[in-house]
Amino acid sequence: MCENWIQPILDEAQSRGLERNAHAYPEVGGKIKIDGRDVLNFSSNDYLDLAHHRHVIDRSREALDKYGIGSTASRLVTGTLPIHEELEERLAKEKGYEAALVFGSGYLANAGTIPVLADRNDLIFADKLVHASMIDACKLSGAKLIRFAHNDVQDLEKRLEQYSTNTGRSLVITESVFSMDGDIAPLAEIAVLAEKHGAMLMVDEAHASGTFGPNGAGLIREHGLEGSVTVSMGTLSKALAGYGGFVACSSLLRKLLVSSSRAFIYTTAPPPAVIGGALGAMDVLEASPRLGNILQANADYFRSLLHEGGLDTLQSQSQIIPIVIGDNEKAVATSKLLREQGIIAAAIRPPTVPSGSARLRLSITLAHHVDDLECAAKAIVDAVKM
Ligand SMILES: Cc1ncc(COP(=O)(O)O)c(C=O)c1O
Repeated sequence: MCENWIQPILDEAQSRGLERNAHAYPEVGGKIKIDGRDVLNFSSNDYLDLAHHRHVIDRSREALDKYGIGSTASRLVTGTLPIHEELEERLAKEKGYEAALVFGSGYLANAGTIPVLADRNDLIFADKLVHASMIDACKLSGAKLIRFAHNDVQDLEKRLEQYSTNTGRSLVITESVFSMDGDIAPLAEIAVLAEKHGAMLMVDEAHASGTFGPNGAGLIREHGLEGSVTVSMGTLSKALAGYGGFVACSSLLRKLLVSSSRAFIYTTAPPPAVIGGALGAMDVLEASPRLGNILQANADYFRSLLHEGGLDTLQSQSQIIPIVIGDNEKAVATSKLLREQGIIAAAIRPPTVPSGSARLRLSITLAHHVDDLECAAKAIVDAVKM
């Protein structure tokens, strides 16, 4: 079978406290039942508690009943349905762009867009902490990848100047809310720099879509930067509680993506129930535009409780709150201890986060009420200090 190379790799990962497993959970969301016991889940991205929302489920079911289980073809063949177009028009309008394009996932949205914006003649300047999907996309593109220090505008400027004689295209990429640190990029300053150096700017709003900005439109919209950010990327899989990804951009760029993005073309269109659910989640956001504000106020309160208990939450300013433990095995042990007390706080280890910065990544959702936050903060403070 020629598989004798596999076990040593797995053994080596285990010896470094880096073994990974995908455990099955009986339910999804911020508050779940496991073996009849109430458990607070701080590792779900169902930020707005929409995964079980009646209207979201109804719209998903409507689409399922009307069109069936699958789209049964790729977008350019016969897989595009009226609801794909409806969702794209709505996303574009909400995000403040001319157009939007939906992909099978957030990963695919990055993988399908970055290689269209840049190729082997070009440069990509990426924040040190951007998500793996962006890095993989940069590798796919063949462009020269230059990393700048996390959220460090001066370092970005230095690197843009260093390559000012570049004759190809330049692209700056960052996230607005960082997935593992929960901090926020200085988008306005980055946009000024990109413009000054004639570079395009792409911002991954996976964790800001639904949670910041008017109607949850994100931080680009909140700061009025639609005119300076070439591509606003987002997912349907976190605050919108379903699955899928998208980019909002100019009509011209959308046209190019439709005709040349491999992750858009060579895959089956997202299924009707998923698109219907995303439309339902957008209805909820439109009807209750303050959901993101409530979430952020709860996150502020939770952070203040952790600080009072002496814990450091890095520069977190969002619903994502990291507590760095450092050692991989200690992070896993702390997570296990909390799990015994009915709290899920997954340990995130390298390579998802930099070496030596294994952490509990806590995400607050609207399923967590104030008394849940108070009780969880106390348990987390005690567990981390043990
Ligand atoms: C910043 C960021 N970008 C992109 C993705 C990928 O999105 P999706 O899970 O929809 O594939 C994620 C999530 O995993 C993410 O955290």
